Formats: sequence, C-alpha cells, structure tokens
Amino acid sequence: MQISVIGCGYVGLVTGTCLAELGHHVVCTDNDPERIASLKASVVPIYEPYLDAMLGANCQAKRLSFTSDAGEAVRAGEVIFICVGTPPLETGDADLSAIDNVARLIATESVTPKLVVEKSTVPAQTGQQLKRALGVYSGKAGAEFRVASNPEFLREGTAVEDFLHPDRIVLRVEDDASEKQLREIYRPVLEGRFRCPVHMGACPSMQPPKLVVTTINSAELIKHASNSFLAVKISYANMIADLCEKVSADINEVTRAMGLDPRIGPRFLEAGLGFGGFCLPKDVQAFIRLAERAGVDFSMLKEAERVNKRRIDVFLEKIRRALWVVKDKQVGVLGLAFKANTDDIRFAPSLEVIRRLLAEGAQVRAYDQEAMDKTSVIFPQIQCCREPYEVARDVDALLILTEWEEFRQLDWERIHGLMARPLVVDGRNLLEPKAMMERGFEYYGFGQGEEAVAAEFVPTLVPRFSAEGASA
Ligand code: UDX
Repeated sequence: MQISVIGCGYVGLVTGTCLAELGHHVVCTDNDPERIASLKASVVPIYEPYLDAMLGANCQAKRLSFTSDAGEAVRAGEVIFICVGTPPLETGDADLSAIDNVARLIATESVTPKLVVEKSTVPAQTGQQLKRALGVYSGKAGAEFRVASNPEFLREGTAVEDFLHPDRIVLRVEDDASEKQLREIYRPVLEGRFRCPVHMGACPSMQPPKLVVTTINSAELIKHASNSFLAVKISYANMIADLCEKVSADINEVTRAMGLDPRIGPRFLEAGLGFGGFCLPKDVQAFIRLAERAGVDFSMLKEAERVNKRRIDVFLEKIRRALWVVKDKQVGVLGLAFKANTDDIRFAPSLEVIRRLLAEGAQVRAYDQEAMDKTSVIFPQIQCCREPYEVARDVDALLILTEWEEFRQLDWERIHGLMARPLVVDGRNLLEPKAMMERGFEYYGFGQGEEAVAAEFVPTLVPRFSAEGASA
C-alpha cells in the first residue's frame, strides 16, 4: 500500500519505518528541513533501539523515503498517517494547531480520495473536528476524505517492538472500506506471523494482538484513559513506598506480591522518582482538562499529578538528610534520560533534581550513555563525564536518576574506592540495598524502610478510655 506519514518525530519515524518493514511503500515528511536532510542520509535524530538499522534497510530497499515537499508526500499516499506533535498549552490542554495545519495541507494538496488516520494523541472529539476541517479547507471541488483513528501505544525504548508486536490495535473507522484498508496495512502483525528483526526472526510464540474496532470518540479516549491509568498506578505505588518507609516495610516485596494478582498485574508499580517523559505528564494534564470541560470532576488524576511532582521533593529531602549541607558538595549523577533506553530528557525528573541541586550550591557532574548532549545544552555548568567511574571520582554523593542496566552492572567496589564519601541515593530502586550496604555504602532508595525514618514512626493509638471520658 502507498502510505504517507506526516511528522517525523518520535511516533512518525517509528510508524513510517515499521510500516515500510511490513512491506508498504512509505513517504515521510516533516516541516523541519534539517531533520529531513539528515533522514535522507539515514541519520536518525533520536536514539531508539533497532530504528537506525531498520530505517536504513528500508530506505535501501526503496520502500521508505523522506521529502521536505509536504504536498508531494500528501499526493503520494492512499492512506495518510498524521503523526504531528500535540504538546501541552499553558492551560494543560493539548495544542492541536499542528493537526489543524496538516488538515489544511491535506485538503489543499489532495487530488485523489484519501483515508486520513489520526495517530497523534488527541483529545476525544478531535476526529470529528478533523473531518469537518478537511471539508471546509478543501472547498466544493475537494477530494473525498475518510477519517480514521488509530492511537499509538509506543513506549520509548521499546517502540519498534511495541509497533510490531502490540497487545492491541485500536481502530475507529467510518466505513467498511476504511476498516479493510487498515486491516490490510496491519495484516502481517494481526496474523502474528511476522518475523521481526527485533527478535532476529524468532518470535512466532508471541500472541497476535487483539484488534479493537470502536467509535471515534472511544478510540481517542482509550489513549488518554490508558496513559492516565498508568500514571495513577505509578503514583499509587509511590505512596505505598512512602508508607513502607514509615512502617519499615519493603516496597519491592509489597508490589511483587500485589502484582501476582492478575487483576493488578506487576508492571508500572515501580516506586521512585515518578513518571516523566513527553507522554504521561502531558496526557494526564490533557485528560484533566478534557474532564473539566466536560463537567466531570476527575480530581483523582490531579492527585496523581500532585503525588508525582512531590517525588522530587521527597528525593531531595533524602539527599539533604544524608548530606546535611548541600552547598559546595560534589554530587555525581548517573542517568539523565526520563527512562532507560532513550535519549529523551523531556520532562525528565533529572532536570528538576539538577536544577535544585545547582540552586542549592552543589557542584554537579553527570553521565548518561545517550542523553548527555541534550542535557549539557540546558545545564552548561555541569560537568559531563565520558564514563560512570569518572562521575564517581571524589564525589560526596552519587545519585541514580535513570534505570539504565549499565548502572546495575558497574563495578561498585571500584566506585566505593573512588568516592570521597560512599553515599548512594537511588531514585529508581535499581540496586540491591543489602548488597550495597555489605559493600560499605550508605545507601538510600525509595520505600525500603530506612531505619532512621522508621524509628520516628509512632503509631497513633486511640485510647479506649480516657480519664476525662471516665469522669464524664
Ligand atoms: C508512555 C506509554 O506507556 C505509551 O503507551 C504511550 O504511547 C506513550 O507514553 P513512554 O512515555 O515511553 O510511554 O514511557 P513509559 O514506559 O510509559 O514510562 C513513563 C514514565 O513512568 C517514565 O518516566 C518511567 O520512568 C516512569 N515509570 C514507569 C515509573 O516511575 N514506574 C513504573 O513502574 C513505570
């Protein structure tokens, strides 16, 4: 099938490349000419496992191409995937101006019928507006447009795998012809017989995904509802972690047992610095705004957001308690990306932690295998190191802010010998507390029953009889 992808950001690049991998002919466009120039040379501007190789191979096979001529891209496709950004406005609402611009572009450049598929995350009812806009912008003599919604559920770091082996594919279509086209596009994935490069061809045991065909408003809501639920789940785990500290319980033991209940499930119960990245925080905000405008009091989501913001305070408090005075201390940071296996630092907890440490007068040096260049633009005053051991040298504390596997595998005995004071504050509960303490570290994670904290816990007993009550 001939497919156009508009927007070569994270979602667009993964979508375009994977659709080409499935055997379609894909033309991608973006309004950033530098990005297109680099993609034409097969230089991928983001770090995402498998993407580079797959993009290069599909360009070579002439199934994937990039153009800065958006009109050419629109005319090339029978199906057009809209993958432009919907960043948050000051109000928390999603900014839909890029979708509106793309609607105008498609409406004015199309000469043949098109199936226009919303892939970007948008609030419910955007599809209806998009359909209307395509009609208005194309005028009387315009081409025929059908609008579908096919929300993405790609996680950064595993996006290629998520695309080729999804749990579910959600579609909203207007008519049978659109459903047939979209089923055809995803046929290799839906039939579960696609041998993908992620598993080196050895993935036939995976379950084929469920196809869910819904109304358009439901399709749009599913994405926001899913991401907001994940955010609530993380904040819930974080509150349990705080409670664990107060009652000397262990969050990992608690969530492991909770997760064995299939109604709860083990994932997204990892306590720590909370959720960041470009999706969860903005989707929660947009969902709160959508609910407000619809007259629904979704304060539970506001609470999840508040809990998440407080994670940084809780973390900083741990650092202050351990260091006493932060000013003039040497602090090493391991991990800058908002999560492992990505170079993305958008809404990463690391940024706020570093900003506050610098404000308190600490000297910060950092290492992240992928996200260093982007961070040093924001904080030119921090020292970026080429490897983790360089970060550890003579520091008063080492902070773990991203759960890169590389950090688990470090030679911690060597690190112990390098540090001025062997203090580790682990924002991701990446390391084993007992093993760290046995190596001689002073180690703090989240929800692991710190003794100092536990000692302060005095249960509030409700007296059965009070002296006053007895005399009354
Ligand atoms: C998310 C959704 O998972 C994906 O379906 C959607 O399409 C895009 O948004 P992503 O932003 O890549 O994906 O990150 P995700 O893996 O969901 O993690 C989000 C944040 O939550 C990260 O900062 C991560 O560190 C944090 N997190 C995740 C936790 O703090 N605890 C957990 O248990 C899981």
